[in-house]
Amino acid sequence: MAKVKSFFFCSECGYQSSSWLGKCPECGKWNTFSEEVVQAVKPASSSSKLHSPLSASTPKPISQVVAAETQRIPTGCAEFDRVLGGGIVPGSLILLGGEPGIGKSTLLLQTALNIPDRRILYVSGEESEQQIKMRADRLMGERKAESEECYVVSETVTQRIVEHIEQVRPDILVVDSIQTISSETIDSSAGSISQIRECTAEFQRLAKERSLPILLVGHITKDGNLAGPKVMEHIVDCVLQFEGDRNYGYRMLRSLKNRFGSTAEIGIFEMQGDGLREVSNPSEFLLSQRDENLSGCAVAATLEGARPMFIEVQSLVSSAVYGTPQRNANGFDFRRLSMLLAVLEKRCGFKLGAKDVFLNIAGGIRVSDPAIDLAVACSVLSSNVDMPISPRYCFAAEMGLSGEVRPVSRVEQRITEADRIGFEKIFVSKYNMRGINKKRFGLQIVEVAVIEEVFRALFA
Ligand code: TYD
Ligand code: MG
Repeated sequence: MAKVKSFFFCSECGYQSSSWLGKCPECGKWNTFSEEVVQAVKPASSSSKLHSPLSASTPKPISQVVAAETQRIPTGCAEFDRVLGGGIVPGSLILLGGEPGIGKSTLLLQTALNIPDRRILYVSGEESEQQIKMRADRLMGERKAESEECYVVSETVTQRIVEHIEQVRPDILVVDSIQTISSETIDSSAGSISQIRECTAEFQRLAKERSLPILLVGHITKDGNLAGPKVMEHIVDCVLQFEGDRNYGYRMLRSLKNRFGSTAEIGIFEMQGDGLREVSNPSEFLLSQRDENLSGCAVAATLEGARPMFIEVQSLVSSAVYGTPQRNANGFDFRRLSMLLAVLEKRCGFKLGAKDVFLNIAGGIRVSDPAIDLAVACSVLSSNVDMPISPRYCFAAEMGLSGEVRPVSRVEQRITEADRIGFEKIFVSKYNMRGINKKRFGLQIVEVAVIEEVFRALFA
């Protein structure tokens, strides 16, 4: 009988130890070790192929390495392609993470059904073939899922997935999800750290050996990390995250790591009754149709990646009923809001300390662009004095601690887009306008240096 061995693994970084440790010597996290029974099973003949070295390569000068012209595979979905950096790179291993129910399976099945001229093998460890078919029919609606090039199979063992690949010879492999897959070479249950690590490594070898792109679905834990050790993120070429507020239909696809493209790009989708729809013009849902005379609203001209987005910021400032004022921010960093409020208090003389402040970014979207600062400050000011800001004004500037209005990146692109959409005025930092020809634009560019000036321009 094979000897039963157990090891302890760090759930953060996958560090392996033969005894339990309180603190991981690798990543320094406390209390992350858990025990797993690992029994090395003799590799079967089919799996031993998996363990062969990639190829016998010898070191050579970089000048002699021939750069292969990588032909990316377009997914047939512009938003997905954008996040990937222009399509799927052959031989790449892509991890798609996201909370349960956010739409990972839907996104990948929809891609599998619509990708032009490629054979796809969709392996699911979570759903039966009938369930996949039902979902596919739902996604295709009238047209029904009749694609001859989309193969589906319900399977949970890597060695058998390899057999299916030999048989089907797909151009792309989808595995939903890595937590349900196990390898016969180790004897621990699917979803355990050692299994996830081994399976990811096996898929990595498979992808590189056969130049077969593989899309893996990964679950996310409560605290927003990809379940399973961080090692997985080190192994794969791309880490994509699918996110969104459940209460809204909008979903965002971000790239957290991409060896073949930028990580700044995002893709936006809307979840509908028959699958995900691409949203190519995000401003359409981010700008709510509002009345001219509502106070507390301001529009920010932001950039996510290379794409301009106009986002509406709404605030409500009211007198605090209790001693400690309440602060709440939806879609915006809470500490940043506190900082902006402190600046407004100091510079504009408002007694915000005695007020409740609620902030909301329309559409349930989360932005990381600092250029949203000025719109946040102005929406708070507008609600505080109860005077509306015209919906035809927008803002693009960061704010400093002393109330100065600071320049932001690629302001020209923001102004061009604001002009195109039909805004009348855009407020930017005056330090942003050097060398920019203002006459080029139809809209009025208001250059400001400090927050007091903005306040006077809007409400005086
Ligand atoms: P799913 O792709 O199963 O999520 P995940 O794989 O990330 O766990 O998506 C499930 C949710 O999406 C579910 O709540 C139903 C909804 N949905 C739609 O609204 N429209 C659709 O066409 C489909 C297929 C799902
Ligand atoms: Mg799923």
